[in-house]
Amino acid sequence: MRESKIWMATSSDDKYTEARDILTEFGVELERIDVEKIEVQADDPVEIVVYSLRQMEDDGRAVVMEDAGIFIEHLGGFPGPYSSYVLGRLGNPGILKLMEDVEDRSAHYQSAVAIRSGNEISSFRGYVRGTIASSVKGTGGFGYDPIFIPDEGDGRTFGEMTEEEKNVISHRARAFRKLGEWLASSP
Ligand code: IMP
Repeated sequence: MRESKIWMATSSDDKYTEARDILTEFGVELERIDVEKIEVQADDPVEIVVYSLRQMEDDGRAVVMEDAGIFIEHLGGFPGPYSSYVLGRLGNPGILKLMEDVEDRSAHYQSAVAIRSGNEISSFRGYVRGTIASSVKGTGGFGYDPIFIPDEGDGRTFGEMTEEEKNVISHRARAFRKLGEWLASSP
């Protein structure tokens, strides 16, 4: 069903703003429901987000949720699904310490977005590849942004970019663009 207004359940202002600005490109209005999502322990962000969505009471509104994480090759994909926990415990300085003198600094962000509309749940993924910086750089964005340098950029971290610049290539933007395209092509 074609939805021109949907609700994002999230406790993050940053995620909401990025997602809202992407969906605007598709003529879709994104409103917000401020909730902490109930997460299940799983490796796959899609599994986490679909589970979280199922836990939410269905009041008839089309609701979208997102789960994201950063996966660092040298650390076997860590912190991945534990990204939120690790950011709270180690922070970016702790990650940089784990990566001290490490040559392979490749990493990727992954975003999983799921929407529930009626009885149907659909999900979309977005990725961005990059490297872990040698120090914390920039005050923009949130979370791991000041230590993540996207491959498709100009050497700056996401934390040194404007939201508009991040939204050209970010994992979240890519997942939400897929959702936007899906909504726009729905009859
Ligand atoms: P969650 O999707 O809310 O579970 O996010 C997992 C963790 O990854 C949180 O600590 C976020 O701060 C971090 N994170 C998710 N997306 C991004 C992003 O786009 N930039 C930086 N950190 C992010």
